[in-house]
Amino acid sequence: MSLNNKNIVPFDKFMSDMLYDVKKGYYMKTNPFGKSGDFITAPNLSVMFSEMIAIWCISFLKNKGDKKKINIIELGAGNGEMTFQIINIFKKLRIKASFYIVEKSDHLVKIQKKKLSSCNVKWLKSVSNIMTKNNIFLANELFDALPVKQFVKKKNSWFEIYVKKNFDGKFNYTKIEKNIEEIEKKFKINLSKNQKFIEFSVDSYNLISNLAKKIKNSKSCLLIIDYGATQKKMLNSIQAVYKHNYINVFDKPYLSDISYCPNFYLLKKIVERNNLFVNGITTQREFLEKLGITKRAEILSKNLPFTEKANIYYRLKRLIDEKYMGQLFKVMFITKKKSSFNLGF
Ligand SMILES: C[S@@+](CC[C@H](N)C(=O)[O-])C[C@H]1O[C@@H](n2cnc3c(N)ncnc32)[C@H](O)[C@@H]1O
Repeated sequence: MSLNNKNIVPFDKFMSDMLYDVKKGYYMKTNPFGKSGDFITAPNLSVMFSEMIAIWCISFLKNKGDKKKINIIELGAGNGEMTFQIINIFKKLRIKASFYIVEKSDHLVKIQKKKLSSCNVKWLKSVSNIMTKNNIFLANELFDALPVKQFVKKKNSWFEIYVKKNFDGKFNYTKIEKNIEEIEKKFKINLSKNQKFIEFSVDSYNLISNLAKKIKNSKSCLLIIDYGATQKKMLNSIQAVYKHNYINVFDKPYLSDISYCPNFYLLKKIVERNNLFVNGITTQREFLEKLGITKRAEILSKNLPFTEKANIYYRLKRLIDEKYMGQLFKVMFITKKKSSFNLGF
């Protein structure tokens, strides 16, 4: 179902069309990362972010005994920066691993392949294609980019939010009454208790279900880093960003980054519903600080001229300060069963 042949679609289908339509979709034709793009993600902000993720992976691996071959699999790798830096660190420390990227956008795969031309990486279209056993899955800012359904409660009825395309080609919101219990039954998840608004991503649910089939032993895990709410009450969190500014979702069709703020409380429920275990949820600030990012900044900036030192600390601040990414971004560590490994949490 796409806006090409329907003039009214549920919000998640609209978001999917805007971001992932094969020809026009935002992620299918643009390189949105960095100063010249629309937004900056943590790996593109500072190499220290990827270094901390690499150290976390190595610690997990050592904790589990590194005799077995381990696979590092990045889900939704953007311009490939994080995998590139992680591979460099593994090389420097002479630690062996196989690297994979699961990426939906062929356009971004091309960019990733160019960046990683000197590295040994395998690309896969879907998590279902993973046949390996000891898998560390990394997902930085993936879940916020997955299409999400929205529902609103009016009096005692639930309505799903739809997007309507008008004759003049412009969009507006509309809503259609839905039986929320049917959806709750289908996914065996309580979405509506004490809520007036629901954001539920079927795509996230399906991705977690597929990942659950690949996280089968104690040497496998999933690390999710994303902006996220941890309160039970859900709110409308949809946003659109164009050239580093917030705009209306309908203002720049196919040209702006549409995302939402995944509710980590609901995400935890989805993870548990799929028989996985949430070992910890913390803020990006706490996670990176426990891994030693401030010490790393000190080491990197030693003997550097003032301007370069200031640049390192400015980037550190953006990663960990509560006014920037430090508080809003959360980290979730998921395994098959409760793990004794708790670095960063
Ligand atoms: C917001 S970007 C984050 C990129 C990168 N992780 C970073 O932090 O710079 C989201 C990425 O997820 C990819 N993506 C979206 N849905 C996906 C899916 N179902 N499977 C794999 N990749 C997906 C997008 O194409 C894009 O590369």
